[in-house]
Amino acid sequence: MSENHDAEQIRKGLAGVVADHTAISKVNPETNSLLYRGYPVQQLAAQLSFEEVALLLWTGELPTEAERDEFLSFERSHRALDPQVKAAVDLLPTDCHPMDVGRTAVSVLGARHPQAEDSSPEVELAKAKALFAAFPAVVAYDQRRRRGLAAVEPRDDLDYSQNFLWMTFGQEQAPEVVDAFRVSMVLYAEHSFNASTFTARVVTSTLADLHSAVTAAIGALKGPLHGGANEAVMHTFEEIGIDTAETRADAAVRAKAWMEQALAEKRKVMGFGHRVYKNGDSRVPTMKTALDAMVAHYGRGELMGLYDGLEAAMDEAKGIKPNLDYPAGPTYHLMGFDTEMFTPLFIASRITGWTSHIMEQRASNALIRPLSAYNGPAERSL
Ligand code: ACO
Repeated sequence: MSENHDAEQIRKGLAGVVADHTAISKVNPETNSLLYRGYPVQQLAAQLSFEEVALLLWTGELPTEAERDEFLSFERSHRALDPQVKAAVDLLPTDCHPMDVGRTAVSVLGARHPQAEDSSPEVELAKAKALFAAFPAVVAYDQRRRRGLAAVEPRDDLDYSQNFLWMTFGQEQAPEVVDAFRVSMVLYAEHSFNASTFTARVVTSTLADLHSAVTAAIGALKGPLHGGANEAVMHTFEEIGIDTAETRADAAVRAKAWMEQALAEKRKVMGFGHRVYKNGDSRVPTMKTALDAMVAHYGRGELMGLYDGLEAAMDEAKGIKPNLDYPAGPTYHLMGFDTEMFTPLFIASRITGWTSHIMEQRASNALIRPLSAYNGPAERSL
């Protein structure tokens, strides 16, 4: 095929293009639903641990009790911060973006993997599980070093979410906090051919290794039009100004005025809109319930004034609804994470979806290489 293509053939941003099959998740904007391997994500968030959801995504089926227990014991024994990864992280400035730390850590883990170039299904699944288990220590350590604190050793008497928060804050958290964290992990885990997952599939399609694909996906996730939006939501709240002494109603009024001004200036407001969902993100109600529990736990109603005010003003002006990042950002803020740490939390979760897609792509591979319509100068001579 030549590259003489009409402009009409271009699907800018690949919008509306169906690039391949997937059996991992189904996003249905008409019914505002999201299924992981056939199961509604709301049911999974209500009833399963994140570890069980990870196994479902990787294998296609819910684990038996024995399979689950085997994985729980594997995960608990692979949580420690690799000393070489720690050494690499320590070389990075404490004011670099934490996504750069996450990207570097995965790259180092790949370079040090004894079977780095082995992409057989068994090895690939083992790599995915090990990365799932190892990554929380990277995020927790990075959060702590930015506060001048030493790393906290993992505890194998805690589940994934409890231990993640333990390693980050050095304290056990209340059950409602752990549960909100678990819910966020389940909801962030998978979302078909989003930008970072598609990036992972593109890299895999060249037959590169799993860690290269995940490293590239982290780069795609960092941007504010994708995962970086959860962090950007909090920056919006900070720009409006968080006043813990303010009433919810007063905060809503200020937020509404801010939104009207932002839209008048044609600004994109992060945490709103979605390429696939045009009438609301299926994951938002579940995450919003978790956020409400955090707000009640920490007694921070004024934050919801900002939340409600922005949401109502956006809906009124443009009919655009919040996406998952909108309730996730303030949830992580209330838990005590620095704003810049929010998107690495998304990595920790999406490792499951990315690695599932890497394995699916590998099992039925075709090099991903679209065409372009050339619009540069006509052929000319020197
Ligand atoms: N703020 C203001 N206006 C918006 C927003 C927004 N967040 N989202 C869409 N619009 C407007 C656009 O300005 C555009 O208006 P116009 O037609 O008058 O120019 C129209 O809605 C269509 O927007 P597009 O950006 O063309 O739609 P697209 O499908 O490409 O965008 C996207 C989807 C990138 C997510 C967009 O809604 C956006 O930039 N949102 C903010 C970033 C964000 O929150 N990303 C997180 C995605 S979800 C996730 O990663 C978990």
